[in-house]
Amino acid sequence: MKILIIHGPNLNMLGRREASIYGNATLDDVNRQILDLSRELGMAAEVFQSNSEGGIVDAIQTKEYDVLIINPAAYTHTSVAIRDAIAAVGKPAIEVHISNIYKREEFRKESFISGVATGQISGLGVEGYLLAVRAARKIIPQ
Ligand code: DQA
Repeated sequence: MKILIIHGPNLNMLGRREASIYGNATLDDVNRQILDLSRELGMAAEVFQSNSEGGIVDAIQTKEYDVLIINPAAYTHTSVAIRDAIAAVGKPAIEVHISNIYKREEFRKESFISGVATGQISGLGVEGYLLAVRAARKIIPQ
C-alpha cells in the first residue's frame, strides 16, 4: 500500500511563514515525520509539493498511490480543478489543514475539496498530517 502526500502553495515556506499560525517546523521536518511514521506502519509514502494548481492536478492524476493525503493550502478555497481531479481518480483522499480554517477569515471557511474527501483534519498543527497517515493505514488495510 502506498500513500501520496501533496502539499500545496506556500507550504514550502513552513517554518518561515506566519509561525504563529503554522508553527516552526519546516516542510523537511514535517516530511521526515510523515515518512518515518509511514515506514513504521509498513506503508510506502511519497511526498510532493507544488505551488501550481496544474502541478497538483498532474500529480493527483499520474502518480501511483492508494490513498491521497492533501493540504491544498490556498487552492482549498478556489480550486474546482483539484476537486475534479480527486473525484476523477476516485481514490480515498484525506484533506489536512495545519490551522483551523473555520476560525480564520470568512473566505477560508469554504473548502472546494471537502465534498470529495473521505475526511478532513483541520487545526491540529502538523500533527494533523500524522493523524492522516494513521487514518490512511485504516482505510486500506494490507
Ligand atoms: C492551510 C490553510 C489555508 O487557508 C491557507 O491558504 C494555507 C494553509 C493550512 O494548512 O492551515 O496555505 O491549508
